[in-house]
Amino acid sequence: MAELKATKTEEARRAIERLNANARTTDQLMEGICQLLNEHMLKYNWVGFYMLEEGANPPALLLGRYQGAMTPHTRIFLNQGICGAAASSGKTIVVDDVKKDSRYLACSLETKSEIVVPVFVHGKVAGELDIDSHFAAAFGEEDRKLVEHCAQLVGKRMEKD
Ligand code: SME
Repeated sequence: MAELKATKTEEARRAIERLNANARTTDQLMEGICQLLNEHMLKYNWVGFYMLEEGANPPALLLGRYQGAMTPHTRIFLNQGICGAAASSGKTIVVDDVKKDSRYLACSLETKSEIVVPVFVHGKVAGELDIDSHFAAAFGEEDRKLVEHCAQLVGKRMEKD
């Protein structure tokens, strides 16, 4: 099972490299990452970007490209949710059981676990890649590496914009 999963993440990573080579804009790259991860990784049931709103005071994260069910959370302040915690700490957050995390903002009743990875541009948090799963503890070490890699590609691309 672990082997199968590693293969899946490796396949996804190769597809992400091709996407990164072919995407002409940051927006295309973000859209492609959402599609690819959602389609390719069976437990990644909602995949989306939240980006810091320019000039907003207090700072807020705005929903950008995503794949999955509609969410009521289109704007999240930095003191709200797991998304706010990841953006304000600049750290990846993995939650194995969202019911046990008091920070969690519910999007779908089906969500059981979540990973949020900050996107850095010139060393500063510019947004994040958020993934929800209908399965408990869906995000292991291989998943974390894959999602962090995707967030890094977006950050690097934004540095060139
Ligand atoms: N669960 C997130 C909110 C965003 S939805 O998952 C799409 C949070 O707790 O910040």
